[in-house]
Amino acid sequence: MLSKKMEKALNAQVGAEMFSSNLYLAMALDFEAKNLKGFGHWLRVQAKEEMGHAMRIVDHLLERGARAVVPALDAPPAAWKSPQAAFDQVLAHEIKVTGMINDLVDLAAAEKDHATGAFLQWFVNEQVEEEAQSVEIVETLKMIGESKGQLFMLNHQLGKREG
Ligand code: FEO
Repeated sequence: MLSKKMEKALNAQVGAEMFSSNLYLAMALDFEAKNLKGFGHWLRVQAKEEMGHAMRIVDHLLERGARAVVPALDAPPAAWKSPQAAFDQVLAHEIKVTGMINDLVDLAAAEKDHATGAFLQWFVNEQVEEEAQSVEIVETLKMIGESKGQLFMLNHQLGKREG
């Protein structure tokens, strides 16, 4: 059985993952409205992944005999002033999520909840990948600067993401 404290903390993480999904979908729609469909595609794939993360946690809650609830979510912004601003926010958001996962790992250790600790390791590894891919895009956008041609090349490349 999960402790009530862990049940609450994992449900909060479900909300954070769902918010991530909505945030990235909102960004995708903004890029698509600005005719940067490759960026939009990449972010739609990411939004789907985030909903998958939420469902993983829901499944863990249910497997452990706990309740999972759909939380109220804040609305994400609707528009970003530039691709750089959007991906700076992606990176900042992923760093924040990594901190939340680390806090959950600490809680699992404090409660000697080894099953949740083992379950969370997947998320620890996933965050390494998510931060790395965000850093790569942020740095590429910095190099691109004001070059429209290079921005369209990156747009094309991001449009090839599988998923
Ligand atoms: Fe589910 Fe991007 O963290």
